[in-house]
Amino acid sequence: MRQRSQSPGSAYFYYPRLVCVIGARDDEKATANFAPVTWATPLSCEPPLFGACVSPSTRTHHLVLKTGEFTLSFLGMAEASLVDTLGRLSGSQVDKVKALELVLEPGEVATTPSLAAAYARAECILVDRHQCGDQTLLVGELQRVRVAAEAYDVQGVLRLDRISPLLYLGGNRYVTTDPTSESRPESRGDR
Ligand SMILES: Cc1cc2nc3c(=O)[nH]c(=O)nc-3n(C[C@H](O)[C@H](O)[C@H](O)COP(=O)(O)O)c2cc1C
Repeated sequence: MRQRSQSPGSAYFYYPRLVCVIGARDDEKATANFAPVTWATPLSCEPPLFGACVSPSTRTHHLVLKTGEFTLSFLGMAEASLVDTLGRLSGSQVDKVKALELVLEPGEVATTPSLAAAYARAECILVDRHQCGDQTLLVGELQRVRVAAEAYDVQGVLRLDRISPLLYLGGNRYVTTDPTSESRPESRGDR
């Protein structure tokens, strides 16, 4: 393959990445706010920690620090347009729940709702935060996870024949997985 050297930040080299939508309670405006994040990752099994890198310029950042909790909603490819719109608007200017007629699911433990359209949702209590350059890594401890039963097999693996997870490519481009590309390789040492 022909190589090209370039400065970091001038290419979406770390995409595609799974999209999740972070939800936060907005008590001042008596609503909730939702914004997509792709710079997000599981961090620990025990305790179960999940981290999201969120810009301090967002309403989400302000709200999560204020309420000490957030939710995560994982959506399918059919919601690409909704996700893109959530990422272009700010809760500082717009009540996204009202403007986009979002259907919400109340939390089981947390008082922050998540998106009803999600195939998987999680409720997190903010337990830590780290400044990482121009982002804040918000670390949540998972309290409850709720998944669509038909979306996962008995091993807890996402059924790609039923769910098309939403991945972000960069810009306003999204993609999903091809279920026929799944591979179950044997480890090379077993041969
Ligand atoms: C697909 C997608 C992924 C995004 N990922 C992140 C991210 O990981 N971290 C972040 O701070 N902003 C991310 N953004 C931008 C925020 O969603 C955007 O700034 C949003 O308007 C913030 O809304 P708020 O001000 O209501 O919190 C992403 C946007 C899109 C469309």
